[in-house]
Amino acid sequence: MPNSPIPVITIDGPTASGKGTVAQKVAQHLGFHYLDSGALYRLTALSVLRRNTPLDDEHALAKAAEHLHCHFNGAHIFLANEDVTNDIRAEAVGNMASKIAAIPTVRQALYGLQLSFRQHPGLVADGRDMGTVIFPHAALKVFLTASVEARAQRRYKQLIGKGFSANMEDLSKDLTERDARDSNRSSAPLKAAPGAYLLDTSAMTADQAVEQILSWHAAAKPI
Ligand code: C5P
Repeated sequence: MPNSPIPVITIDGPTASGKGTVAQKVAQHLGFHYLDSGALYRLTALSVLRRNTPLDDEHALAKAAEHLHCHFNGAHIFLANEDVTNDIRAEAVGNMASKIAAIPTVRQALYGLQLSFRQHPGLVADGRDMGTVIFPHAALKVFLTASVEARAQRRYKQLIGKGFSANMEDLSKDLTERDARDSNRSSAPLKAAPGAYLLDTSAMTADQAVEQILSWHAAAKPI
């Protein structure tokens, strides 16, 4: 139905809360599109790291976001025509992403690109401000959390699996710092949207979280 509203499910939460895996599975199950908004911040970060753009040059950082030349193909993410799927997952890139994400002009530059992912038959969007800022009228909003220990453990496995080296102590410290930066920034801080369902996945498998979200979706009023 091209003229009917396009349903959106937002899944926000802190780093390594499992929202990426869960959001992709929910999207797959419903046949919806998927927006990994963190990847857009990571792509911008990778692009400015490669150009050695100084963090205090806000104009250049916002320009990099505005002219982000990227595309998604299945699980693969491209910057210009280079496959950077693994490169953007490096901790250094994640840390830079969280720094530039605190800059309002960078966030503004990525706004339209994020909206463009809303296409029929529906969208599952994951990030920090999907339910609060980008899709405030989403039919279903979820805020996914997990303990720092559970998240560090997941990130550890993810990094080792991708061939990066990792250390639990450094990862826990990194996660805590990044949570603080994402939650305390003045522009679009990480927080649950009004009306969001809270889901603590510390002791849950990804499939259990998916099941819960699908049952909320089935019960949600269409918009
Ligand atoms: O989710 P992920 O860890 O890939 O995101 C990388 C960084 O991008 C986060 O630490 C956060 O600072 C930023 N981000 C954001 N808003 C979003 C998604 C990600 O500020 N919607």
